[in-house]
Amino acid sequence: MQITITRTQSPKAKPDQNNLGFGNYFTDHMFLMNYDEGKGWHSPRIVPYGPLSLDPSAMCLHYGQEVFEGLKAYRAADGSVSLFRPDKNMARLNLSNDRLCIPPINEEFAVEAIKELIRVDEDWIPTADGTSLYIRPFIFAADPFIGVRPGKNLIFCVILSPVGAYYPEGLNPVKIYVESNYVRAVKGGMGFTKAGGNYAASLKAQGDAYKLGFSQVLWLDGVERKYIEEVGTMNVFFVIDGVIVTPELTGSILGGVTRTSCIDILKNWGMSVQERPISIQEVADAYDAGKLDEVFGTGTAAVISPVGLLRWENKDMNINGGEIGKISQKLYDTLTGIQWGKIEDTFGWTVKV
Ligand code: COI
Repeated sequence: MQITITRTQSPKAKPDQNNLGFGNYFTDHMFLMNYDEGKGWHSPRIVPYGPLSLDPSAMCLHYGQEVFEGLKAYRAADGSVSLFRPDKNMARLNLSNDRLCIPPINEEFAVEAIKELIRVDEDWIPTADGTSLYIRPFIFAADPFIGVRPGKNLIFCVILSPVGAYYPEGLNPVKIYVESNYVRAVKGGMGFTKAGGNYAASLKAQGDAYKLGFSQVLWLDGVERKYIEEVGTMNVFFVIDGVIVTPELTGSILGGVTRTSCIDILKNWGMSVQERPISIQEVADAYDAGKLDEVFGTGTAAVISPVGLLRWENKDMNINGGEIGKISQKLYDTLTGIQWGKIEDTFGWTVKV
């Protein structure tokens, strides 16, 4: 399929690279492609960024048939631009598509479309330390119909956003509240997908935690409320007595690209990594025994985010004196070093645009 390109006649002013925050600014163009039953995916195009026209009865607005992805483009010191494991994101998009009855996309074509969009908006890739161009592909049902069934007319869109750190704390440790009241997902549901609905389900708990001074919640399993799942915007790792433990993927947890990359890096360093069920009680016991060395989150948006305080009911666990731990720091340096082309990518993860 040939991608047509229509360039904007009125490029926007670029934001201040040192005050980007996350998700505030959008580039001059976006990618669009349609799916219509009987016709398949068609009409791939890059057009000026702007509002989409949707029928008020568009199915996504009523039943939430929507999935998305998040990846980043990085500008290296030599001026080249790379993506980090985009094939993984597109494979996960199709996994989400399958669960939400959205027709699959051609993964290689989607990566090519993203590269083409980035080339068009290349001058939007920020270069300040810690910044990148966040890429948000998403798909939704646009049929003008309010009966409940899978959409037959869908839109695949990709938008780009120059970003800095996700959390205002940056690499400073965040405070996380262990959520015992609400649950995010259960096995058999869609917790393993990147679907907007999962995030809608998280807002109430996140809002409550925020009012108490916490950045995010740590979700427990929806059945026993005992086993750790993930943080709102990232997967979570614990360093207990030198061993790294992260919840195994059970069907209710998102299989993060950063999660799997960190596991590979840690194993490559010869560290012991366990993917297994881990209960909040085990974490609290390790803390009491002085063996909870570090806690950190991983995600495309959050990168590596150390946790400085974990509150579970009335128990406050102050981790590593509120400082970033050695492993978190080394992982951050290694991962971002590969992404920004500062250190050799021996894993073959980066893809030139
Ligand atoms: C990401 O890390 O890319 C995410 O999608 C997290 C988020 C901002 C929802």
